[in-house]
Amino acid sequence: MGQTLYFILLLIALCSVSECVQRQYHFINEKKTWTEAQRYCRENYTDLATAENMNDTNELKKSVNDSSVQKIWIGLQKTGRDEWHWSSDPELIVIRENVTWSEALRYCRQNHVDLVSVHSEEMQRRVMNVVKRASTAEVWLGLRHSCTVGIWFWVSEDTVCYQNWAPGNGTSEEDCEHTVRSGAVQSGGDQRWISLPETHKLNFICTTYEE
Ligand SMILES: *[C@@H]1O[C@H](CO)[C@@H](O)[C@H](O)[C@H]1NC(C)=O
Ligand SMILES: *[C@@H]1O[C@H](CO)[C@@H](O)[C@H](O)[C@H]1NC(C)=O
Ligand SMILES: *[C@@H]1O[C@H](CO)[C@@H](O)[C@H](O)[C@H]1NC(C)=O
Ligand SMILES: *[C@@H]1O[C@H](CO)[C@@H](O)[C@H](O)[C@H]1NC(C)=O
Ligand SMILES: *[C@@H]1O[C@H](CO)[C@@H](O)[C@H](O)[C@H]1NC(C)=O
Repeated sequence: MGQTLYFILLLIALCSVSECVQRQYHFINEKKTWTEAQRYCRENYTDLATAENMNDTNELKKSVNDSSVQKIWIGLQKTGRDEWHWSSDPELIVIRENVTWSEALRYCRQNHVDLVSVHSEEMQRRVMNVVKRASTAEVWLGLRHSCTVGIWFWVSEDTVCYQNWAPGNGTSEEDCEHTVRSGAVQSGGDQRWISLPETHKLNFICTTYEE
């Protein structure tokens, strides 16, 4: 990232309730280094722009409304010889302690970023990869059931669009008489999501950002 100043672009991933994966981009017409731009976006929005398909790319282009700007930063970062990754993709870490869902949430928010949200197939693949290291048969995700409205939601505030529930799990009608239900992923087998009372004690996955 040792380049001179360029115009940057920005981003971000607001998932509105109606449209599941539509990203929203904000063009920031200021000169910054990539690292400064990333800091700006993380503080004021979500992160530097991620564009995963043609639709995203078109939206991103549309957001740049100043025709004199020739180059803009996006959230791609080279992390290895031939490896690139998006700034908005967190690293995932499995915490091998057996705790309730609420304790897991508090731990992740205090020590890292949040309990993991699995909002795409790509993220599910990454989760499947890391949960192999867990010591419990299920591992907490940032997935919670609301009895008031009868829906499942991610604590990161993303709507649940992508789903990978085990058969019979994840329905809107959960048992609301006892404890609140939360979502966990199986660490073996099909590695699907299941609904459990939040008082079960399991390992969990936090998202964390590379500095
Ligand atoms: C966030 O935006 C404000 C207002 O534009 C700006 O002053 C501030 O420096 C930004 N944060 C970062 C980390 O750049
Ligand atoms: C791209 O946008 C079109 C029209 O808005 C939509 O029909 C299509 O499903 C979108 N594709 C993706 C991959 O989001
Ligand atoms: C681009 O859009 C922003 C936000 O809508 C606006 O403030 C700015 O004046 C626009 N710039 C140009 C060159 O149209
Ligand atoms: C957590 O629970 C698993 C399964 O019951 C057990 O094998 C493991 O030793 C426990 N880990 C800790 C740190 O207590
Ligand atoms: C949820 O999935 C698990 C694992 O497949 C299964 O044992 C359980 O019966 C399912 N729950 C319901 C309510 O069907």
